[in-house]
Amino acid sequence: MPWYFAVAERDHEIQDPTRSEKIRDLGRLLRLGPDSRVLDVACGKAGPALVLAAEFGCSILGVERAPEFVAAGRERIAAAHLAGRIEIVEGDARAYPLEPESWDAALCLGASFVYDDLDGTLAALAPAVRSGGFVAVGEPYWREWPLPTEVEDEGWVTLPETVARFEAAGLALVGLIAASEDDWDRYESYHWRALEEWLAANPDDPDAPGIRERHEQGRDHYLRFQRRLLGWAIFVGRKS
Ligand SMILES: C[S@@+](CC[C@H](N)C(=O)[O-])C[C@H]1O[C@@H](n2cnc3c(N)ncnc32)[C@H](O)[C@@H]1O
Repeated sequence: MPWYFAVAERDHEIQDPTRSEKIRDLGRLLRLGPDSRVLDVACGKAGPALVLAAEFGCSILGVERAPEFVAAGRERIAAAHLAGRIEIVEGDARAYPLEPESWDAALCLGASFVYDDLDGTLAALAPAVRSGGFVAVGEPYWREWPLPTEVEDEGWVTLPETVARFEAAGLALVGLIAASEDDWDRYESYHWRALEEWLAANPDDPDAPGIRERHEQGRDHYLRFQRRLLGWAIFVGRKS
């Protein structure tokens, strides 16, 4: 059986509710240029890395665990003639050694679970960037608190509390690039289309019922409450 996310995210250029234009905004906030060295934790298919390297000429090292995404990312890097700028290391990013003060910027977009949660991510990445460097984390947040009783708390916090976590990690918030409703709808829609197409093409696959159940539950949660209650943003912190 293909891994659920390899099917669900096969059409995503960027595997998060954002878009290229906003990733370029991120690069400007990070003051990226040809001399910048960027670490991209859980880089997926290198969507953000391709945008940043093409626009700013920076060097990016991505660490990604899923072999499907590593292969797709490497193909995209070669097609964009950016192999001299972007490298992907395949493996568990949590185990990747982080030399202190060695990066101009460290990104973790949509993958704070790599270091358990946001606090763990900031604790891991803040020491790895130089003084005056940046840590950027793409993270969901609840738009309302407390949550309605029928909504399960999935461990995220509110926007002010997310910002407080950056400050507690010694990072001054210098940027917020939030997902719009359109960004969310596109991100979710690409999942639904890819999953419906896969299910139509593989009706007899023994895993089809499980994939359909997960897909329909995800779509139902999105439509019933996540679309209204769940925000997502790239938070940019500067290390003093
Ligand atoms: C939501 S996607 C985001 C990908 C990319 N940052 C982007 O914005 O396009 C999360 C990624 O985390 C990767 N991932 C999950 N656990 C990982 C780990 N321990 N080490 C490296 N990558 C991991 C997944 O394979 C997936 O590519």
